[in-house]
Amino acid sequence: MTSDPEHIQADNVKRFDDAAADWEEKPLRVALARKVAEAIQQAIPLSGTMRVLEYGCGTGMVSRTLSPHVAHITAVDTSPQMLQVLSEKAGEEKIVNIETLAHDLTSKPLPVNDFDLVMSSMTLHHIPDFKALLHHFFAAVKPGGYLAVADLVTEDGSFHDDNSGVAHYGINPETIRSIMSANGGLDIAVKEIHTIDKQQGGDATRRSYPIFLAWCRKA
Ligand SMILES: C[S@@+](CC[C@H](N)C(=O)[O-])C[C@H]1O[C@@H](n2cnc3c(N)ncnc32)[C@H](O)[C@@H]1O
Repeated sequence: MTSDPEHIQADNVKRFDDAAADWEEKPLRVALARKVAEAIQQAIPLSGTMRVLEYGCGTGMVSRTLSPHVAHITAVDTSPQMLQVLSEKAGEEKIVNIETLAHDLTSKPLPVNDFDLVMSSMTLHHIPDFKALLHHFFAAVKPGGYLAVADLVTEDGSFHDDNSGVAHYGINPETIRSIMSANGGLDIAVKEIHTIDKQQGGDATRRSYPIFLAWCRKA
């Protein structure tokens, strides 16, 4: 793990571009995305009028699952290859309400008060200053709209085979709760929604990695 933000960002673009074509070959990833989409559906009252932003969408597994339940999704990522795979899969699945955008919100803001829901899954631990990122999420959400972020609970650094591009070994969900509170979030909730079990670490023992969803409403 490097702590230099520019290196982390460069590592991430390369790492995820390289991984894009086979991203959905791992059943653990597909199962996780399904759980995140289900948990968001349970937590947030989705409707056919909602405009949604997914940040760090990857191949769009969460967005593609939720797309029938909302009006429009802007799927944002910094990896052009991830977005390319998303577009191909959305085309095969006849999904017409997802638009892709290659954009880094950590260096350039998006229009304010534009979305009914901003959601993100398994991306915050790749972002050095996720507190600033959440602040940008709040700015992008309309008053009364929703934020939902899922990520790995703090771990010992064994989750990834390769920690290049990893800015944090998981995240303490209570930190997300306090950031949401500091941004004026209402009805803040945090829940463990899934556990990834895999053989991992130098000793290749079987380990469990909990995943949380934190959500709230913008005042
Ligand atoms: C672990 S993947 C998760 C992808 C997807 N959300 C999923 O659950 O399958 C993290 C994603 O975040 C993207 N990412 C990393 N840093 C980013 C940044 N600064 N801005 C936007 N996306 C970023 C990566 O390209 C990658 O697609």
